[in-house]
Amino acid sequence: MERSPFPHSGPLEADEVTGRDDEAADLVRLLGGRVPVALVAPRRYGKTSLLRRAVWLLDQVEPTSTIWLDLYGLSSVSDFAVRLDRALAGTTGRFRESLDRIAGGLSMNIGIVSVDLRRSARSGPDPTATVHALLDSLARTTEQHPTVLVVDEVADAVGVGNVLELVRSHLQTVYRDMGLAFAGSKPTMMTRLFADTDQPFYSQAQRVELKPLSLDAVLDVVHHGFRATGRNAGPVASSIASFGAGHPQRSMELADAAWWITDPGTDADQATWESTIAAVRSRSAPALRDFFGVLPGSQQAVLRAVVRTGAPFAASEGRFHDLSNSSTTIARDALVDAGHLITGPKSTSLTDPLLADWIARELP
Ligand SMILES: Nc1ncnc2c1ncn2[C@@H]1O[C@H](COP(=O)(O)OP(=O)(O)OP(=O)(O)O)[C@@H](O)[C@H]1O
Ligand SMILES: [Mg+2]
Repeated sequence: MERSPFPHSGPLEADEVTGRDDEAADLVRLLGGRVPVALVAPRRYGKTSLLRRAVWLLDQVEPTSTIWLDLYGLSSVSDFAVRLDRALAGTTGRFRESLDRIAGGLSMNIGIVSVDLRRSARSGPDPTATVHALLDSLARTTEQHPTVLVVDEVADAVGVGNVLELVRSHLQTVYRDMGLAFAGSKPTMMTRLFADTDQPFYSQAQRVELKPLSLDAVLDVVHHGFRATGRNAGPVASSIASFGAGHPQRSMELADAAWWITDPGTDADQATWESTIAAVRSRSAPALRDFFGVLPGSQQAVLRAVVRTGAPFAASEGRFHDLSNSSTTIARDALVDAGHLITGPKSTSLTDPLLADWIARELP
């Protein structure tokens, strides 16, 4: 059975990431130089994939252990302890041996903290004490082995107990031994996290922003994927690149759909593109409708205004939707904060080209 050359759910493997060479080189330089980085991009823009590639490249230059800590939807200190434990349990080799030895000295068993923490509050360990012990073990192991810690969706930890303060207090002693990468998809929160004086990571990280993929990068990926599997993308490559507007995951989703309807040994053509877009539209419509439906009315109106006019503030749109300028501003800011809108110097656009297309087709 043939496999599609265009995976589009979950992060890519390190060697599948293309079109982000400059950003990957920046990350390698910063992580290798032990400068903490904050990687910021909307959802599905390839943050995790790029970090995978960067630590893989770094590992080839100087062998490095990487710990992947994902804080998406973090709810509590116990939740943090469990995730940190799992992240540490994901390490291997010499790093893991040292870690187990050091943690053992603190009466900790890496990998089974989760089980202990799920026990009843009375018999289970104190989650804050557990976090201290885990971070302490990590910091001490880092002194012996080159390490990169990747904290994905770090903004979700803001306001959850004092987990970020705990991380900072334990790791600041090893900042120079450890590569530290924070990734997040909420741009405003990421700014606040590293620019507000009252935040634990104030002024501690260099910001790297992921822009949309370039037109050429998408064309390359599509042509290469088709060619490598005995097909020819023909005019479909540029249709995908222009419709996908540089959105990495949506572009790959479109390429995947086009690939499946192109038989091996044949060329895709205009009819292929028409079938592709029809299939992707009908497949994604229910999820887009659900997503749009749960947004507050003012945010729905702003998205519609942006789709129609390229800006949130057209007077005619405000009148049409019965929306004051101040409500528009609040709604626009919330959409930008959540990463759904991208504001440029000249125009504003939706992050997701398929959502923009759905709104343009379904709503007046
Ligand atoms: N450099 C790239 N070239 C082509 N497609 C890419 C690239 N990076 C990511 N993608 C596409 O985007 C999808 C999502 O990538 P990834 O999970 O790394 O993004 P993310 O920003 O971490 O997403 P999330 O917000 O869900 O954590 C991948 O499955 C792939 O289809
Ligand atoms: Mg990710």
